[in-house]
Amino acid sequence: MSLQPLSKTTILLHWLTGIFLLVVLGLGLYMDELPKGPDKFEIMGIHKSLGLAFLFVALIRVVWRIREGSLPALNVQQTWQDTMAKGIHLFLLLATVLMPVSGLMMSIGGGHGVTFFGSELIAKGEEIKWMGGLGHELHEIGASLIILALLLHIAGALKHEFKLKDGMLSRMLGKKSA
Ligand code: HEM
Repeated sequence: MSLQPLSKTTILLHWLTGIFLLVVLGLGLYMDELPKGPDKFEIMGIHKSLGLAFLFVALIRVVWRIREGSLPALNVQQTWQDTMAKGIHLFLLLATVLMPVSGLMMSIGGGHGVTFFGSELIAKGEEIKWMGGLGHELHEIGASLIILALLLHIAGALKHEFKLKDGMLSRMLGKKSA
């Protein structure tokens, strides 16, 4: 089967957001395990700054996806697995924006302000309890759901590549289909 190739921008944005997401997620999980202290504080600063840089890339990707539409389908007849994969893609796209936004809500709501690699973006202010609380809930639930969605997404990609052998992963790697 010959697949419609993906544009270079689609491929670049996919891997850029994927790798960037894993770094910020991994940093968040690592930081969560650290005891309160200067180390945790420092890592949290890096986590927040990278998370904000990630938001910039994620927003570009959302605009790109809206312009491009969904990825060209593999099959004419859609199975329940295809429908589930589409749902996971949509969730991951929304989560790439919701995670940084909920992180911002946590920081602003907690009255901590926001800095970007040492430069102040939003000054410290009054605590806004509902915003901090909601941001915290969304950030925590979002992190667990992202891990689940990523595992399903990777499992699906591997199944297509090695069991169904339809070249879906190769297409996202920019390799030409036979
Ligand atoms: C892709 C973007 C992001 C991802 C995947 C992510 C992920 C995580 C994870 C996994 C944790 C560990 C604890 C938890 O589950 O809540 C965490 C904690 C945290 N994140 Fe993020 N984060 C992102 C962006 C941001 C941004 C942009 C900010 C703020 C500007 C932020 C602020 C925080 C804070 C303050 C904590 C500590 C929460 C606590 O004390 O319980 N995050 N993040």
